[in-house]
Amino acid sequence: MLKPPISRLGGKSKLRKTIIEMIPEHICYVELFFGAGWVYFGKEASKVEVINDIDRELINLFKMIKYHAPEIERMLEYEFSGRDMFEEYKNYNIEYLTEINRAVRFLYLITQSFGSKGDHYGYGTNTKPKPQIFYKNVLSDLKERLRNTYVENLSFENIIDKYDREYTFFFADPPYLGTTGYEHEFGEKEHLLLRDKLSNLKGNFLLTINDHEITREWYKDFNIKEVEVSYSVSKEQKARKKYGELIITNY
Ligand SMILES: C[S@@+](CC[C@H](N)C(=O)[O-])C[C@H]1O[C@@H](n2cnc3c(N)ncnc32)[C@H](O)[C@@H]1O
Repeated sequence: MLKPPISRLGGKSKLRKTIIEMIPEHICYVELFFGAGWVYFGKEASKVEVINDIDRELINLFKMIKYHAPEIERMLEYEFSGRDMFEEYKNYNIEYLTEINRAVRFLYLITQSFGSKGDHYGYGTNTKPKPQIFYKNVLSDLKERLRNTYVENLSFENIIDKYDREYTFFFADPPYLGTTGYEHEFGEKEHLLLRDKLSNLKGNFLLTINDHEITREWYKDFNIKEVEVSYSVSKEQKARKKYGELIITNY
């Protein structure tokens, strides 16, 4: 199983095996909220694949890995983790950067920050900096995986309209209800639009969402599987917290 090059708030590293086992037969695989893409990078390739996220810098990174992985690796080869470099990357005006420079900047900021949020330089007293992006050939495998994939950068409802067929399978991992921290707002209005769109699909869907009275009510007409996931609260603490999640399907 491949590992994504970045972490992302709400990434599906812990649940991906369960999700992959539940994917039904399909021809076209669509990931509506790609993030770091744990499920996509973990599963076997489908005949047709589409990855989508509304975040422009995130999608630019995967597009650039697809077309220019060796150049990104070459540029990162001489980099190392440092607060000054972090601040420099953070303060660049991205409008003046090439797409490749933007991808390098995004990769650097996400991997070298606290909680992969890209805003504060991440350091630790009992963990090393994340060096994997500075090694060669890490991105090349991902590039192979991305070769036959359509890469989209739209809001989820437009992707559903474009790709929905009887043989399409949608994996939806939206921001959790009540979560903040992404650049684009995803509140009750967006969740209800997603519910309505998924309810009227020709194809199949699998949705992951936090276990909450409201989310159960929204999806009461579908199959609901409860799962528990434990996440570490912080790197310094060994403490782990358990969260209830729901895996909802229309098949
Ligand atoms: C929970 S994360 C997905 C995590 C991913 N499954 C993983 O394994 O890393 C949710 C993603 O939805 C994206 N997003 C937010 N609003 C969106 C929208 N309206 N349409 C598409 N993507 C959106 C965010 O940028 C974020 O990357």
